[in-house]
Amino acid sequence: MSKYDDLFDATAPDNSLFADKGALDPLADPKEIVARDAQERELATILNGLHEGYLPPTVSVYGPPGTGKTLTTRRVCREFAARNDRVAVEYVNLKECRTLFSAANEILFQLADEKKGSYEGLDGVFDGIWDALEAYPEWTVLVLDEIDHIRQDTNYDPSDFFYRLLRGEGKLQRGINCSVWLVSNELLEVDLRLDSRVESAMSDEAVFFPPYGEDELGAILEARLARAFREGAVPDAAVAYGVQEAARRWGDARKALTLFRQAGETASERDLEAVTRECVEANLETTEKAAFLERAGRLPASHVGVLRAITARRNRHTGAVDQPVTTERIHEVLHSEGVSDRYRLRRRAIREVVHTLETMGLVETAMESGGRDGRRKRIISDARPCVHRARAGRAAVLPSCAGRPASDLAVGRAGPSVSGHAVGPRTPQ
Ligand SMILES: Nc1ncnc2c1ncn2[C@@H]1O[C@H](COP(=O)(O)OP(=O)(O)OP(=O)(O)O)[C@@H](O)[C@H]1O
Ligand SMILES: [Mg+2]
Repeated sequence: MSKYDDLFDATAPDNSLFADKGALDPLADPKEIVARDAQERELATILNGLHEGYLPPTVSVYGPPGTGKTLTTRRVCREFAARNDRVAVEYVNLKECRTLFSAANEILFQLADEKKGSYEGLDGVFDGIWDALEAYPEWTVLVLDEIDHIRQDTNYDPSDFFYRLLRGEGKLQRGINCSVWLVSNELLEVDLRLDSRVESAMSDEAVFFPPYGEDELGAILEARLARAFREGAVPDAAVAYGVQEAARRWGDARKALTLFRQAGETASERDLEAVTRECVEANLETTEKAAFLERAGRLPASHVGVLRAITARRNRHTGAVDQPVTTERIHEVLHSEGVSDRYRLRRRAIREVVHTLETMGLVETAMESGGRDGRRKRIISDARPCVHRARAGRAAVLPSCAGRPASDLAVGRAGPSVSGHAVGPRTPQ
């Protein structure tokens, strides 16, 4: 017997509670989309505009992570295209694209199986895109997923990219009908600060995917838990607890699926007959931490600055972060001495960023009435911006806030602590 026989024997699952763990893989396409009837209807209504000769130049599909945007948009568009010869649907995920040029090239690759060299520039790539689309049916729906991952690069800014995409000369000359569907966590006009010539070329069509509530997550999980576990291995009480917590904390189907997979693994490790509430509980923090890191890793610098300003002030006696704060307080911190210009947002921009952070579940707000200033928004956050070096190129640290060193600002109220991600350089970037 080789050592590998022993190794595999020792690590083989015995008494596993799972029947088909793959059913909890968030990447696996579910047979049915549930609990998204309203969004499916909105998307279908927009697509049906084709029968009246019109699809909007852009459609924004937005909402927090794990709310079914990619799944629903892809499926509804494909089902529509399968029933209509006049339309083709192309799906491009731009998550890995670091520059606008590479994003355009990725679109070209999807359409024509070729890429252009950088010497051809963005115009060269867009020419290729219009050439390819000439051979397409009358209408094309171009779904650009994770478009919020693209940022300024050294040669182009997002407005250049979108202007070419929506109003490019090659497109107009050839009379190409292309409806661009932008799938992202945020509304792009706000997130990418697109200029007015681009905004006026975009339509107002937007479909919002809110976080899932308890009933919706329960419906999504029901069939998948039944397939994933052996009969009786997840009692109703454990399901109810996990669903309730997943809805309260994240509203994210991906996280909910992961939570139950991990809870099942914990139960197996503990040699239990069934998943218990404690098994779910043991994994809530781990999943929460992963969820937080994922969200935080996607933030642009301006958002990190605001988050940091929200958690900047400490109580002198207890050392705890002093919250809630107001927009005015955030403004004061961001405009204090030594803070880099890139974080010096105006009050209106701060309000927009706070709204965005709230949609992502990174801050909570409440209106407070009374007092000298009338109604004011009170803002709190558990987030610790020290983790924002997680994504290369997004390193963003306020060198100093309100006279405190940056390291002093990196401690949140009760958010997950992330060791291994240093507070980053203290020099302005
Ligand atoms: N309504 C639903 N019905 C069934 N399964 C769902 C539903 N919503 C989400 N899921 C499951 O969760 C997974 C994640 O959903 P999806 O990728 O569509 O989220 P997303 O909103 O695009 O997230 P992100 O913003 O992170 O890209 C899906 O692959 C699917 O397994
Ligand atoms: Mg997605």
